[in-house]
Amino acid sequence: MSIPVIAIDGPSASGKGTIAAIVAQRLGFHYLDSGAIYRVTAYAALKQKIDLADEPALVELAGRLDLRFDGAEVYLDGRPVGDAIRTEEAGRAASTIAVLPRLREALLARQRAFRQAPGLAADGRDMGTVVFPDARVKVFLTASAEERANRRYKQLIEKGLSANLSRILQDLQERDARDAARTAAPMQHAPDAVLIDTTGMTIAAVVQRVFDLFSQAQGKT
Ligand code: C5P
Repeated sequence: MSIPVIAIDGPSASGKGTIAAIVAQRLGFHYLDSGAIYRVTAYAALKQKIDLADEPALVELAGRLDLRFDGAEVYLDGRPVGDAIRTEEAGRAASTIAVLPRLREALLARQRAFRQAPGLAADGRDMGTVVFPDARVKVFLTASAEERANRRYKQLIEKGLSANLSRILQDLQERDARDAARTAAPMQHAPDAVLIDTTGMTIAAVVQRVFDLFSQAQGKT
């Protein structure tokens, strides 16, 4: 039997990362934050003064990136990148390069390498559609743009980073529009993914719902 994957997709700040990390921890599964891969690739490109529209140069960069994940920390060339990839600017840069199909392809193997026993919880935009189409459970998380902007605002303030709520809302909406409109692996609610609108739901309730879906799916195999 294949190694089970729980694919959690959805727009920015929908809570995917929080939910996927808790689910992974409780099940003893590995965790993939695929957005971090796009963020750190864009971050490395900016550092190396590579144009974010230069697909061949970005593909080449993706092939030689020295990346390592350890819990929530991402290491680039052996050094922790910390919150430098968590800013809104880094998110915008990530979504700019994420429209490039050959770059996405170049990052596929790195993402699939996270699928290891006993299982994987993965969050992103195309986990259930492209990266792990045979995932045991597919969820599409969403929430109103205002609620998502509020969550992101609180996250940034808690980290001691500067934040502006109306700017965040505008950034989120622009990023969602770009992520949904691109032709390569657009963010979409796939027909085989269960839609969970987390507006007004607690984290515990969403985690429980994902657990229930996973238990049901396990019962079927
Ligand atoms: O999830 P996160 O906000 O960290 O992702 C940053 C950006 O990376 C997204 O806006 C999206 O453009 C891109 N991304 C993607 N596919 C994924 C994960 C992230 O295109 N699986």
